[in-house]
Amino acid sequence: MSVEMRKIVWIIVAICLSPWLCLAINATNMKKWRRTPQKLNCNIYEGKWVWDDSYPLYDSSTCPHIRKEFDCLRYGRPDHQYLKYRWQPQNCDLPRFDGKSFLTKFKGKQIMFIGDSVSLNQWQSLVCMLHSDVPQLEIVEHGSDPITNYTFQDYGVSLVVFHSTYLVDIVEEPIGRVLKLDSLENGDMWKNIDILVFNTWLWWYRRGPKQPWDYIQIGANIFKDMDRMEAFQMGLTTWANWIDAEVDTTKTKVLFQGISPQHYNGAEWNEPEVRNCAKETQPINGSTYSTGLPLASHVLQDVLNKITKPVYLLNITTLSQLRKDAHPSSYNGFMGMDCTHWCVAGLTDTWNELLYTELIS
Ligand SMILES: *[C@@H]1O[C@H](CO)[C@@H](O)[C@H](O)[C@H]1NC(C)=O
Ligand SMILES: *[C@@H]1O[C@H](CO)[C@@H](O)[C@H](O)[C@H]1NC(C)=O
Ligand SMILES: *[C@@H]1O[C@H](CO)[C@@H](O)[C@H](O)[C@H]1NC(C)=O
Repeated sequence: MSVEMRKIVWIIVAICLSPWLCLAINATNMKKWRRTPQKLNCNIYEGKWVWDDSYPLYDSSTCPHIRKEFDCLRYGRPDHQYLKYRWQPQNCDLPRFDGKSFLTKFKGKQIMFIGDSVSLNQWQSLVCMLHSDVPQLEIVEHGSDPITNYTFQDYGVSLVVFHSTYLVDIVEEPIGRVLKLDSLENGDMWKNIDILVFNTWLWWYRRGPKQPWDYIQIGANIFKDMDRMEAFQMGLTTWANWIDAEVDTTKTKVLFQGISPQHYNGAEWNEPEVRNCAKETQPINGSTYSTGLPLASHVLQDVLNKITKPVYLLNITTLSQLRKDAHPSSYNGFMGMDCTHWCVAGLTDTWNELLYTELIS
């Protein structure tokens, strides 16, 4: 063989070997690789709950910022299996949450959760997840209801929760408290934030002493009451129009936390005599819930479909329906039975893993 020929043969051999070399390197780095952000071309909301001994992501007793409503272990919850489940999408793996890279990526940025106590629930969990990865980092706390602002020093990352039960306004007027379905006055405090995560649903069906308004107003018309699902749809539409008109989505990323389910009806999981989640210690096996999605999810989806600007649905409904075991029930520092909120640590950590996945991809 001529020298020239040999050179060519070597080049061909090198080219043929290189993919195999790459594969070998990848295989040894597989674990690390799984933790690196990937573009996920799969539906991360389709999957099932699997036991994972490496969970929970943190020990809630070391989270100094946890509110008693969510602090199930402190209030004596005896079973701890609910902490051990990881959400496994059917066709891909979620990246492992990494607080340091989260803070690095969002250096100087503000993330605001806007909505009812379910927003507070998710915000609380994200605070604990970040704190446990950088426990030495100081957190500066500002404000109080309706705006609470926790800033992670050095990185200047602010996690803000803005308490707004309906997103649209409730205004004190001479006739009483008026829920204005076509008015959204707080928007100026939201629209320049880097990342917005909205939610509203829980309060639209509240009646009696817990209902925080006396009248509903649409335009110039005042009503004593109306169909609540229709009211929800109108309020959401006002919010949607505000997004289209006011939010610059090239600068602000907008997400909506999907409908968070409750567990007060055992018929939904084949225990028709059960009326709450008190005795539930296991998730529902499989990927589907007997009732399918609640009606409110369809209303939400319809409204989101009409928005021109990009709004990402954090589609946590089905995976949360499967977690009848993840509520505080009576372990919440109050007398009541809570099958609405979620223990922290717990399910809302998964919501934040999904949020993280979406934000880094
Ligand atoms: C949300 O996820 C569930 C479960 O995978 C799915 O059935 C539903 O269609 C999804 N909703 C949207 C709007 O993607
Ligand atoms: C949160 O606090 C940080 C640090 O003090 C501040 O820069 C930021 O403007 C605050 N955000 C809100 C929404 O109050
Ligand atoms: C869950 O379902 C799978 C598949 O149907 C089955 O193999 C498994 O035993 C079930 N687990 C429990 C705890 O019921």
